[in-house]
Amino acid sequence: MNYINEAKKILAKMTLTEKIGQMNLVDSSIEKEEELLKLASEGKIGAYLTYERDTSSTQAHKKLIEASLNSGVGVPILFGRDVIHGHWTMFPIGLGMAASFNAEMVEKAYKIVAKEASDNGIYWTFTPMMDIARDPRWGRIAEGFGEDTYLSSRLAEASVWGLQGRNREDLGNSDRILSCPKHFIGYGACEGGRDANTVEISRNTLLNIYFPPFVAAIKAGAGSIMSGYHDLNGEPVSASKYLLETLIKKVCGLDGFIVSDAGTTNHLTNYRFAADRKDASGIAANSGIDMDMMSSCFVENLEALVKEGKVSEERIDDAVLRILAIKLRLNLWNRPISSLTSASYKISPEVYETAVDAARQAAVLLVNKDSVLPLSKDIRKLYVTGPFTDAVKELFGTWVIDGIVDGVDSISDALKKKLPDTDIKFNTSRFTDEVLNNSEHSDYVLFLGGESPLRSGERNSIAHLNLPDGQEEQIISFSNLGKKVILVIVAGRPLNLTRVLPYVSSILYVFHPGTGGGEAIARILTGEVEPGGRLPVTFPRSEGQIPLYYNSIQQRKARACQLKYIDITEKPLFNFGYGLTYTSFKLSNIRIQSNSIKIGESAKASILVTNTGEKSGEAVLQCYIQDCVASLLRPAIELKGFKRVQIPYGESVTVEFVLGNAELGFYNQEIDWIIEPGKFKVFIGLDCENTIETEFNLVIN
Ligand code: BGC
Repeated sequence: MNYINEAKKILAKMTLTEKIGQMNLVDSSIEKEEELLKLASEGKIGAYLTYERDTSSTQAHKKLIEASLNSGVGVPILFGRDVIHGHWTMFPIGLGMAASFNAEMVEKAYKIVAKEASDNGIYWTFTPMMDIARDPRWGRIAEGFGEDTYLSSRLAEASVWGLQGRNREDLGNSDRILSCPKHFIGYGACEGGRDANTVEISRNTLLNIYFPPFVAAIKAGAGSIMSGYHDLNGEPVSASKYLLETLIKKVCGLDGFIVSDAGTTNHLTNYRFAADRKDASGIAANSGIDMDMMSSCFVENLEALVKEGKVSEERIDDAVLRILAIKLRLNLWNRPISSLTSASYKISPEVYETAVDAARQAAVLLVNKDSVLPLSKDIRKLYVTGPFTDAVKELFGTWVIDGIVDGVDSISDALKKKLPDTDIKFNTSRFTDEVLNNSEHSDYVLFLGGESPLRSGERNSIAHLNLPDGQEEQIISFSNLGKKVILVIVAGRPLNLTRVLPYVSSILYVFHPGTGGGEAIARILTGEVEPGGRLPVTFPRSEGQIPLYYNSIQQRKARACQLKYIDITEKPLFNFGYGLTYTSFKLSNIRIQSNSIKIGESAKASILVTNTGEKSGEAVLQCYIQDCVASLLRPAIELKGFKRVQIPYGESVTVEFVLGNAELGFYNQEIDWIIEPGKFKVFIGLDCENTIETEFNLVIN
């Protein structure tokens, strides 16, 4: 269907008031029901969101849709909700999904997310969040895919495909929903890691680090984009014609619509960028915002602004056509409102298994001294404690509205089932002295620590990255008693593990793993499966090193005496891409198909990976490049490929990466994608430092 042509037919019948109504996104609650029904019946609501559970079953939802269909030309309201990393079944938070380095898995997970949300009457979700983040103090680092542009781009694309389907028409199917990649752009670079703070990013970094995930998401078919709360390089992003009209609509070719973040239009007055709400409405609409989220500025002011000639009717028509075309693509007129609720929905064994596998692939084994993991069968007694001992909902992470808790195993529940013959003592006492005293039960302490979901996510930034108060002391005390401490950390960000490192035998870092977390962690601890995650962010040793990320422009070794600190090493605690397995791998025979590649052709690089351990295992191969001489400063190394391969023990596998225009080029200052001839180094390895290298020349035809 030509959605724009169809949209034009509807637009031709609409009044100016109805058109502006489409540009209004309201938040709904039971208290506001009467007021919203009135607005809907006047055609003044284009979309709404609510934070209440089981909305499709409430009368309010049905009534709102009906009211919109009975108003004027009858355009149905679009119901959106923050279904961020799961609806009824929770998958790992974004950072955990990223640790999987597995785009197929992410696509599969988001397909389930879309189906569950759609079954609950939700047709639009404000995900994926793709803000590159180099500062773990920022609470919202939990929601995104970490610090790397290439990884974020592949996972952004996979999320969009999972939610919307790979073909444009798929979005109209009843099991697909509209995605809304966010927050355009640079939100993750907020000063001091303080949420929604000012951002300053060079044009080079903006275009080559922060922009590509949005390009990938839009190319994958994303039908909407959300702008951010912050200001960037001197402008509020939600009022920047350059960012919204030029970068998203012109350069990326978004044919869907841009929604502002909540209240950003009104916030233009707090920014002292607009004199009042009316002025703010004109600025936002003229900058390219098509739908105003939760400030009511557009419905209150746009009509007058059009009459005064301050906003053109063409701009309104452009915005409304974009919204209508997406509603048509979503088949919104024909979507039945389901009566499924969290109470009547049962997570199927297949969906549960996908959630468990996702959680397994999100779990990163950081330390495993003397191979203490997997737990030896000879351990007859185990002592389990820490704040996550009986946690279920807390495993889900930030942004959980509908996640089902009933019937979901905690880590302890799952462990008990796996180790029926082990004498496990669980201790959830609030008294740390009591917890310590009872540890005489075993020489092995499994400490299930980390941070509550309330300590990460929106508005939850922290200045100190240590484990929450008391946990480090408890861990150190166990070690001082001679116990072997097996530490599992559930968290929404990289924490500073420097202090506890000398006192623990192992660290399994699982982020907030979701519904499958308890089972996946128990399987990993007992060796039924291996930990599958690799770090999607660099772990600093100290907050003083922040920002610390692997793909810096400057190379440590090139300026060893300058880039150092005199009081601490400048090296991270754990590298980007790092993660142990229950086996070991050796890399050899790196090859490049030809030393001289013509621009436009692809370089093929391969490596031999041998499983040198005693178990079969999964290697996550990572391919990085360096553009040796370039007309704009480029990162010293940057990820350009990753592959997860299962290798039986004793066997070897050749893994190949293809590097073409998409991998070898970059944006110049004029936003052209350019590929420059010259030498490229290729590094393939198991993390960003543990690589072997080769090189080739890119030559002009
Ligand atoms: C957040 C967005 C979210 C929106 C709607 C805002 O506060 O920044 O990420 O989608 O609220 O809930």
